[in-house]
Amino acid sequence: MSERAASGERVRLIKGDITKLAVAAIVNAANSSLLGGGGVDGAIHRAAGPELLAECRTLGGCPPGEARLTRGYRLRAAHVIHTVGPVWEGGGARESQILESCYRSSLEIAKRERFREIAFPAIATGVYGFPKEEAARIALAAVRSHLAREEWPRRVLFTCFDEETLSAYRQALAGAPQPP
Ligand code: APR
Repeated sequence: MSERAASGERVRLIKGDITKLAVAAIVNAANSSLLGGGGVDGAIHRAAGPELLAECRTLGGCPPGEARLTRGYRLRAAHVIHTVGPVWEGGGARESQILESCYRSSLEIAKRERFREIAFPAIATGVYGFPKEEAARIALAAVRSHLAREEWPRRVLFTCFDEETLSAYRQALAGAPQPP
């Protein structure tokens, strides 16, 4: 099977701190102001340094589901793709569609920029409260759909910060039926 079709070779699951990765771009789970916050947003801004915030200030924010590109500054990653996930409100406020759009918007930037490798955190599953298992399924489906028809990025790393997230992604990757 060609690499393009075997998206399994182009999707990797890793456990660790996304700010340490030397990839073309890491994706930030930001808020709509793009002016920093806690969680992975805070970690990325701390690691990138003040120039990141300075560039973010020029962007004028970002609506949920969209993505914006900046440089990575002091990060090992050359760029940061900032996307804004949905705040989980129980599932009736288009949260799944917005989350899928976060992945698609970020992948479109990676395609446009011809980034070889990008890393995603588990967008919206922390402060925003999106259930991890469903979020992992949405993430994988969106990435697989993109990789099946696009050459760029060449590879996507799902970067899990804790065991619970890693387990959710493992289940989603295996396509295992979710426990009731
Ligand atoms: N590397 C990788 N993943 C991380 C890191 C890190 N250094 N730090 C946290 N994470 C993980 C969390 O464990 C969670 O699985 O990122 C995932 C997303 O969690 P949050 O960072 O809380 O992001 P989110 O749920 O999308 O909430 C966004 O939180 O930090 C604020 O400004 C941000 O208002 C926005 C909101």
